Amino acid sequence: MADKDGNQLAKDYGLNQPAVSQSFYVKGMDHVDWGMKDRLSRIFRPESGKTVMLAFDHGYIMGATAGLERLDLAIEPLAPYADALMATRGALRSCIQPIHNKPVILRASAGSTVLNDDMSSEVVGVDIDDAVRINASCLAIQVFIGANGECSSLQNLVRTIDAGARLGIPTLGVTAVGKEMERTHRYFMLASRVLAELGAHIVKTYYCEDFEKVVAACPVPIVVAGGKKIPEFDALTLTYNAIQAGAAGVDMGRNVFQSESPIGMLKAINAVVHSGFTPKQAFDLFETEKNTLL
Ligand code: R5P
Repeated sequence: MADKDGNQLAKDYGLNQPAVSQSFYVKGMDHVDWGMKDRLSRIFRPESGKTVMLAFDHGYIMGATAGLERLDLAIEPLAPYADALMATRGALRSCIQPIHNKPVILRASAGSTVLNDDMSSEVVGVDIDDAVRINASCLAIQVFIGANGECSSLQNLVRTIDAGARLGIPTLGVTAVGKEMERTHRYFMLASRVLAELGAHIVKTYYCEDFEKVVAACPVPIVVAGGKKIPEFDALTLTYNAIQAGAAGVDMGRNVFQSESPIGMLKAINAVVHSGFTPKQAFDLFETEKNTLL
């Protein structure tokens, strides 16, 4: 080495201290690779272990969804208040600036729209190389347990898990609920567990009664979808109850971007998820933010 003569002698070997034993804070993820942990730590905040994902991938089945008519106008101001962005590659490339430094949950299944009575026939709609070009931190695949497309959607899931695993990209399994499917804890417990057993690193599902059993029986983190727009206080209560039952966060769309104050709603959801606010405290925060931003 050119400067070897001036080098300090290494001497601090910590001889009396055992090597630090490290465990990883995301549920069930102790034994995945370093790169995957790095991506997961971008999604789940290390200080709380939880996440607030902003979902705006609805257009892939619904077209121009209310509140998302102009993605550039609707999402850009919200991005700073979300921990992660869940979107299609088309939405990201055409409407969202690559400056927010937020992890992307890339919608990677496709193949059906709301015009079809049976929406359970999907395919893997994104090549893994393109997911890398997008710099995806996670891939999202919809699975239709109990529907006609059950087998093919499970194939989509496992193929994506395998493709992502080769590159250290985790996969989020989404439990879809079709018109015919029940919304009981028995259904969500079965669906969530199947997705996790097949290798999904995160499971997205809906809140239901006895939700703590759904969480307990799922060995990986569960994030809760918001569903159709409901009053803000009710959406915050749903969030609170899900977190109390052990959810690792939310992946919420319509209850944010269809709110009369999307930023206020995101701040209030963050307060519940990361700071333990009660629904009442969070709703007060929402009201204050709403009035401030008017
Ligand atoms: C639906 O197309 C997507 O999976 C959404 O990301 C998911 O339903 C979450 O959005 P919301 O809170 O509006 O249900």
